[in-house]
Amino acid sequence: MYDVLQAMALRESVRSYKETALTPHQQKAVITEANRLTATRGPLGQPVVLHVLFGSAVTARATYGVIRRAPGYFVGVCPDSREGLLDLGYLMEKLILYVTGLGLGTCWISGTFRAETFRKWIPLAQGMKVAAVSPVGFRADRRTLVAGAFKALSRSTRRKALKDMVFVGDFSRPYLKTGEGGGFHQVLEGVRAAPSGRNAQPWRILMEEGRGRVHFYAARSGTRYLDLGIALAHFALGAEALGLAGEFSEDPLHPVGPYEYILTFKH
Ligand SMILES: Cc1cc2nc3c(=O)[nH]c(=O)nc-3n(C[C@H](O)[C@H](O)[C@H](O)COP(=O)(O)O)c2cc1C
Repeated sequence: MYDVLQAMALRESVRSYKETALTPHQQKAVITEANRLTATRGPLGQPVVLHVLFGSAVTARATYGVIRRAPGYFVGVCPDSREGLLDLGYLMEKLILYVTGLGLGTCWISGTFRAETFRKWIPLAQGMKVAAVSPVGFRADRRTLVAGAFKALSRSTRRKALKDMVFVGDFSRPYLKTGEGGGFHQVLEGVRAAPSGRNAQPWRILMEEGRGRVHFYAARSGTRYLDLGIALAHFALGAEALGLAGEFSEDPLHPVGPYEYILTFKH
């Protein structure tokens, strides 16, 4: 088992790659994990498919030049719905953290890619869509100019403080002290490190310690359902690694606030 909290801390979007192919052993490990995750379900039970393309003819054109020379791609397919996107975010992020643990670079792409190019290589059932892709490979020593520009544009190194995304009891009480999270502080830091479209970080978390519940909400953002799925994956994996495992479900008694309610973690 890889150190998942370390993978969360180390992961960052890699847009420039070496041409070097993965070793057959690495390719096998990545495909096995993608197939294993495809056979599971995210919190909303949607049929997500994680395809892996190695040595294909995916050129820089497929990502409008944002990604160069990647030796492989993940292609994330899900039902064309809010639930589908959330589960794709959840399962594909588990794959991304796993390959981060293998020392590989990735970059979520849900905007700057040509879906029709990727559709040429994969079967697509009716009602399903290619909602996101990610290159996978070895980071280049130097960034291309386009990659550097995208990194700067997304202001990816800046993250909101925990007090701006986590609340305790109700939305008027920001999370201020490390002790307040009932042992979840490190897990929350793992969520804070999660990637999101344009680094919007739309997840909002409300901790109800008395009831042992952690509620997830979404602020407005174009990629929020993928982003929320990603944040839920970070929370679940982090909690599991620290012996705080639990399950996601809808809580009819969830507090109502200024954000869109998504799901609740019960432990
Ligand atoms: C759902 C999602 C969609 C994204 N879409 C794009 C994209 O279309 N093009 C791009 O260059 N980066 C994209 N990104 C990468 C984000 O800009 C990046 O994750 C964010 O700025 C945080 O930076 P970091 O991943 O280096 O921590 C996307 C990320 C996520 C999670």
